[in-house]
Amino acid sequence: MRCVPRCAWADRMRVLVGVDENAVARAAAALIAERRPRVLGVATGSSPVLTYRQLVRARSLPGDVQLCLLDEYVGLAPTDSRRYRAVIVEQLADPLGFPDNHVHAPDVDADDLDLAAERYEQLLCDLGGVDVQILGIGRNGHIGFNEPGTSIESRTHVGFLHDATRVDNARFFASLDHVPHKVVTQGLATIAGARSIILIATGAAKNEAMTALVTRRQSPLVPARSLFDHPDLTVIGDHAALGGTNYPRTLLESV
Ligand code: GLP
Repeated sequence: MRCVPRCAWADRMRVLVGVDENAVARAAAALIAERRPRVLGVATGSSPVLTYRQLVRARSLPGDVQLCLLDEYVGLAPTDSRRYRAVIVEQLADPLGFPDNHVHAPDVDADDLDLAAERYEQLLCDLGGVDVQILGIGRNGHIGFNEPGTSIESRTHVGFLHDATRVDNARFFASLDHVPHKVVTQGLATIAGARSIILIATGAAKNEAMTALVTRRQSPLVPARSLFDHPDLTVIGDHAALGGTNYPRTLLESV
């Protein structure tokens, strides 16, 4: 009899592959809704946009859910529509009629940002912790704004963006010079503390980072490694992001 080695990652991590980004979004939204989160951790960026649209269309989130951001830029005007809090209000809270005080983000206007980061960490704790954390992933494997080299033990903190991340995010700004350098982000340990994590990745640009994640490539340069041992991690992506290696995966049916 052939002995099949047990892989810890295969036990824990579910990898779902959809034919396109709509299939990915439908599956992600269904998984989020089925967990009935009281506290939903929300990522920004392009990856979760269709999932949010799907959640709005289906009206499948509990009405009293608290939305907690992963991260926020420092240095943008309070009224700047590129602030991540503003993005979540526009994409999710407003269309669902959620009150403004149910959307939480680090106070990046505070004089003492370290204290603001500590307060945000405390707030997450006071809310009872994050039930479901939605994540995207950067090309360099960053989650939230935890760049390669960030400690796996990190809690919410002030961070500085790598050039590659600023270049990637420059598409939302007039030029690269306008992209902030400084951020406040949930730390890797904070993110890994969520009860359930749903990571969405589409497009070939994410393939290298996703391969590192699903094959558990051990390197301090892969921030997403903090998720390796999470007890409830679902990775949902398309073939472009998740193709290339032979780890176990489930193909989503196209609807
Ligand atoms: C930003 C955000 C991350 C996001 C990443 C990828 O850096 N801080 O939370 O996952 O971008 O963004 P996108 O989904 O647009 O590729």
